[in-house]
Amino acid sequence: MAAKIIRSVALVLVLGVSSHRTLALADEYPGWAFPWRQSTPTTNKPDDSKELSVPGSDIHFTEAQLHNMSAPPDWYPQEHSAAPAIVVRSEKTWACGYCHLPNGSGRPENAKLAGLPVDYILSQVAAFKSHDRHTDSSNWRATQYMIQAISNVAQEDIVSAAQYYSTQPVISFVRVIETKTVPRNSEGFGVMTPLPGKPVPIGTRIVEMPDDVERFERRDPKVTYSAYVPIGSIERGRQLATKGGANRPAPCAGCHGAGLTGDANLPGPPIAGRFPTYLFRQLYAFQSGARSGDATLPMQAIVAHLSQADMIALASYAASLKP
Ligand code: HEC
Ligand code: HEC
Repeated sequence: MAAKIIRSVALVLVLGVSSHRTLALADEYPGWAFPWRQSTPTTNKPDDSKELSVPGSDIHFTEAQLHNMSAPPDWYPQEHSAAPAIVVRSEKTWACGYCHLPNGSGRPENAKLAGLPVDYILSQVAAFKSHDRHTDSSNWRATQYMIQAISNVAQEDIVSAAQYYSTQPVISFVRVIETKTVPRNSEGFGVMTPLPGKPVPIGTRIVEMPDDVERFERRDPKVTYSAYVPIGSIERGRQLATKGGANRPAPCAGCHGAGLTGDANLPGPPIAGRFPTYLFRQLYAFQSGARSGDATLPMQAIVAHLSQADMIALASYAASLKP
């Protein structure tokens, strides 16, 4: 009897302190969401002689130019409005457009900035600076690059980048595909890349891959992506996103707007049609504490109810919506 009481007291204590952190720790660490290939350092200089192109652009860049982080390739300059220097050609530092692309379409390993509200962009840059937003994966170089990228940028340049990106049209380049098996794949830089051979079971993860690795490597903003997700993820995500209730997150549209496309009068940024591995990493970061601070309190309350399978479902659902 006494033992039984002690056991139930212990249980109450465990349940009583069960916060979002305990839930995060209950699942295995989702290393699959942080793919970063271990590369062997090379002293080979990138080739500066051969002119490379991508379909649909008549501009050419050499490999050395493609790697210039201060003056990144801009394959379709006529298709976006005039961009400030910090976005496309920066004298002193890396240009935002190297990672987020000149039109803000972004890539799965960083973030789509096109169409985000100016204030939200500024608040996130400030959060990276103050360390409220970081990464808890030592393997994940992407966030470390972002923090380095903004460390010496004048606030007026951040503001002009934010104003520019917020006015660019939001286009989705990702197709969400429910499946039992995925093409064999290995870690690339921030995405998975396909390998020849027999398909493998998907498991409980999202496998996001560029459809054309060469165009991805040439930083073509029009490269498309396939995001493979477990069967049933989109409908499960839709249910979680729309039907609040006991032990369920509050409906996402209440803060992220109808269709999750954002709304100037609501606190949440647009999340429709964005890269699902990016969205998953953010949900996980709110739970693990890698995104913290007062602005994240509403999201901490949301993720307290979520398992990683739920986060996969929500990311799949949001990514499948029209931006
Ligand atoms: C070297 C690559 C790189 C450069 C250059 C870079 N970023 Fe980023 N940025 C990232 C990555 C990677 C992330 C996602 C990090 C994460 O989620 O932890 C990110 C995230 C962001 C976000 C968060 C978006 C969201 O939806 O929450 C903003 C805003 C942002 N960057 C703005 C900028 C601005 C402005 C510049 C230029 C001054 C810039 N970045 C330059 C890599 C970069
Ligand atoms: C009570 C308001 C509220 C609700 C409800 C809410 N969110 Fe959020 N969400 C926010 C706020 C505010 C932010 C920005 C947090 C910050 O500044 O770091 C955010 C940020 C996010 C981000 C990160 C976006 C980015 O660009 O990095 C994702 C992903 C997200 N929410 C998903 C969801 C999902 C999925 C749901 C429903 C299950 C949901 N949210 C419900 C308020 C909310």
